[in-house]
Amino acid sequence: MDDIALTRRIFARSWQCLAHESQMADAGDYVAETVAGVPVLILRDADGIIRAFRNACRHRLSPLVADGAGACGAELSCPYHGWRYALDGRLKSATGFGPMDGFDARALGLVALPLKRWRGFLFVALSDAADDFDAWIAPVAARLTDTPLESWRFGARRTHDVACRWSVYVENYLEGYHVPVLHKSLDAEIDSAAYRVDVEDRIAIHYAPLKPERRDDAVYEGLWAWAWPNLGINVYQTGMMMERIWPMPDGRTRLDYLYVFADPAADHGATFAMSDIVTAEDKAICEAVEINVAAGDIAQGPLSPRHENAVLRFRELLDAARG
Ligand code: FES
Ligand SMILES: [Fe+2]
Repeated sequence: MDDIALTRRIFARSWQCLAHESQMADAGDYVAETVAGVPVLILRDADGIIRAFRNACRHRLSPLVADGAGACGAELSCPYHGWRYALDGRLKSATGFGPMDGFDARALGLVALPLKRWRGFLFVALSDAADDFDAWIAPVAARLTDTPLESWRFGARRTHDVACRWSVYVENYLEGYHVPVLHKSLDAEIDSAAYRVDVEDRIAIHYAPLKPERRDDAVYEGLWAWAWPNLGINVYQTGMMMERIWPMPDGRTRLDYLYVFADPAADHGATFAMSDIVTAEDKAICEAVEINVAAGDIAQGPLSPRHENAVLRFRELLDAARG
């Protein structure tokens, strides 16, 4: 099975964090994203209900809206031939279509997808065959019971394009082995000798204790986790960032950072600055590694049992998905 087919298979069964509900306050507010090549849309209707759909018109499959956050008003109107859909997905009008025997508007509503609201975040699955959500997120949920996620609000969305396959970037996210070598500014905040990663089912939890002398001014503190297959969950003292590691159709990766903060209006410059530095360092090394991985002529060496246990787990899950 090639990488694209494997990626599609994995993402068809997984949950994807698409948005925070504070991004969708009013009827017609939406967030659209193409997840592993599949356009997806979440939308708030006039009754306040948020639903998820395939972002595909049932006529000839034009996406109804471009990717990103926006507001469509009282209905969705296809930009190709103008079919109109209610906010609950029903086809209201096949505009100008003309008479046709057997035309059944009720069978041509938008294709609904499973949606899960979790602590203010909205997760979508690409099929009904998705894994059990609560079991998947449980190790993270258990560690955040005292953190007031629901009161936090959308703060920023920032993206970075990386010229490597998504699995190379995930593997980089899954170990702290490289921190003292690659991330000098991050290493100045944390006690790298105590760094460890615990794996629970499809979740990896990083433990990176702060150096005592950096306890007051460090950016990082809290939970730092990964959830299969492609989600980084970075919790700070005053907010958090969902790090979506999206596979792109050209074999590249888009890092899509969704920040929520207790006070979005406060100055978060230090958080963004640290993120930019660490991301640039990870991007550079992953793009360099990708060249040798793509060359395909040398097998990778052994994984460190002490530091790379979560990388090993990720590869087990990849193999299991490969079947
Ligand atoms: S594809 Fe949407 S109206 Fe034709
Ligand atoms: Fe890194």
